[in-house]
Parts: sequence; C-alpha cells; structure tokens
Amino acid sequence: MKIAIVTGGGDCPGLNAVIRAVAKAATKRGWEAIGIVGGFEGLLPPQNFRVLDYKALDGLLVRGGTILGTANRGQFSAKTGHGETRQLPAALLEETRRGMAQLGIEALVCVGGDGTLTIAQQMHEHGIPVVGVPKTIDNDLAATTVTFGFDSAVACATDALDRLHTTAESHNRVLVLEVMGRYAGWIAIYAGVAGGADVILIPEIPFRYESICAAIAEREKLGKRFTLVVAAEGARLAGGDFVTSSAQPENREARLGGIGAVVGAEIEKRTGKETRVVVLGHLQRGGSPTTMDRVLCTQFGAKAVELIAAGSFGRMVAHTGTSVESVPLKEATGQLRTVPPDSAFVSTARALGICLGD
Ligand code: F6P
Repeated sequence: MKIAIVTGGGDCPGLNAVIRAVAKAATKRGWEAIGIVGGFEGLLPPQNFRVLDYKALDGLLVRGGTILGTANRGQFSAKTGHGETRQLPAALLEETRRGMAQLGIEALVCVGGDGTLTIAQQMHEHGIPVVGVPKTIDNDLAATTVTFGFDSAVACATDALDRLHTTAESHNRVLVLEVMGRYAGWIAIYAGVAGGADVILIPEIPFRYESICAAIAEREKLGKRFTLVVAAEGARLAGGDFVTSSAQPENREARLGGIGAVVGAEIEKRTGKETRVVVLGHLQRGGSPTTMDRVLCTQFGAKAVELIAAGSFGRMVAHTGTSVESVPLKEATGQLRTVPPDSAFVSTARALGICLGD
C-alpha cells in the first residue's frame, strides 16, 4: 500500500506532528508514505513529493509549519467566502486523479481547514480515495469539537495578553490586541478569558463603541486606569462590515486585518486615553505545537491511517469531546462552528464583568 499526505490552506502548529503520525502509523503497517510538496498542485504532473521514511520524520513532532509547504491560493481554491463554495473544474480533478495514479498513490490524507476539506470532498465525489484531518487555529469546523492548532494559537495569544497586561498597567494605557478569527471568535474568547481581558470583541457579537467606552469608564471609576481589549480580526461594528487589509483576491477570501487599529483610534478619540494596538498576526500560526496539540495531532494522524486501512474514504477524523472518531467530509464542510452568543463561554465572560461590546 502506498499513501500520500498533503497539507493545504494556512499553516499552523502541529501540521508536522500529523505528517509524522500518519507516516509512522503507515510504516508500522508496512505501507509506504510520501508527502506531496506545495499543496494539491504537487499532485499534478510533474509531481512534487518527498518520501516520508523514518529518517525524514526526525524532529517533526515539535517543529512548526509544514515540511511539505502549503498553499491557500492557485487552481485548488474551493472557498471564496463564508458558505461560498467554488466547484473545481472536472478536468482539474481528473488530472489530479491521473497524477496520483502515476505515483501509485492508493489513498490521500488531506490536512486542512474548511477550504482544504471542501477540496477533499470534491475529490471524493470524483472517485479519489481521500480522508481528512481537521486543522485550523480558528477552531471553526462544525463536525469536530476541536481542531489542531487552536490550542497553540490560544497559548500564543494568552502569552501576549500577559505581557501587554503589565505594560498597560505601568503606563495607564488602553491596549488593544488583534488576534486571528475570521468568522469565529474562539481564539479571542479563550485567550481573553485566560489572559484577563476587560473587553472581548468577537465576530458573533457586533459591538458598539458606547459599550466599550462605558466599560473603560467603569474601570476608571474603580481605580483601574488601564484596559485590555482583545479583538478578533473578524469583529464588526454593529451594522458595519469586516475590516480588510487588501482588496479581495480572485477565488479567495478577503484578507482581513486592521480592526484593532480602527477600534483603538476610536477609543482614544472618545475617551482621551492613550491607546496602543498590537496585531498578533502570524505569530499565532508559528512555532511548536503545545502539549495538547501534539497529542491531538498524533491521535488524528493514527486515526486517519486506521480509516484508510478500513477503506473508509470520504471521511474526516473528528474529536467528539471524549474520543477520536470520524464523520463524513460533507458534514465537516457544510457549516462553520462559531461561538454561540448564549453559550457558557460568553456567559462566563459576562459573569466576570467582561464587556463583549454589545
Ligand atoms: O483560517 C485561519 C486564519 O488564520 C484566519 O484566521 C485568517 O483570516 C487567515 O487564516 C489568514 O490567512 P493568510 O495567512 O493566508 O492571510
């Protein structure tokens, strides 16, 4: 048996740990594993791949990024917005199938988020034997309770808040931390609660400046002359739109960024308090995976190989909260898992007096 693994979409901590787990579990069964280089394009002739033998796996458990490279643009682009799917041309899918056959690949493990798994689903519908592994720091895939990369991103954002806390306090400033989270505010709410933020702005709850400024004024009254604000990049003013940092590229989602600066400037104008902004950006996507992510990646990789062995294609490995199971890819890509505004995550924050901006 010969299997391949491909990483697609934005990178995140833990991709290499999944590659390692898949290759190790495959080798254990006496199979050959190869890694496709540069995302799905590497499957097209002239194919680009690496043999994933034991030597190739040294140090991968803790290494950030993906040794295979990844792409979230180009011919293989199946998502252009929230719920907006693009059908890949049949000719491209056919060329992919032929490319795989030329390499003797009998199954493909597709590691990625909503976009990559949508591509995997279309490949499955075209008769290509695929299984999926859910990755995204945003933690917004519907069919799994958690995606790998999320815990590492939250750890990074929480560490940033801890650091901003002491400098904000020393200078009596408002500090705004912009974190990732396009449609879902999981990183913002987890890191905000873990890092003691005073205001948390998430895409699911449109915000008003009056509410944010009232929270800052309330803190001043209590003698707290500094405030920590966490804003997910997808947070929006009530009645407003996403803040983007570039025009929407063809066949791709718009590049978000800048909400922190917009919110920070308005807070300074309205309160007169010195306000500084930090955009955490891709720091959240780099570096070693946390302990939790290493375990999750290893479980996911081993389960993906188990699915292949059972001939269960068109499925994605998924965490149920207690164990690692699998679900049809279609279920995984149909909808996003956002932060329910009436959930315990939000009510815990509110119970502590954290302002959600509404
Ligand atoms: O989907 C994960 C994510 O980190 C989003 O939060 C963010 O909008 C996007 O990736 C950024 O991707 P890129 O690095 O391609 O701009």
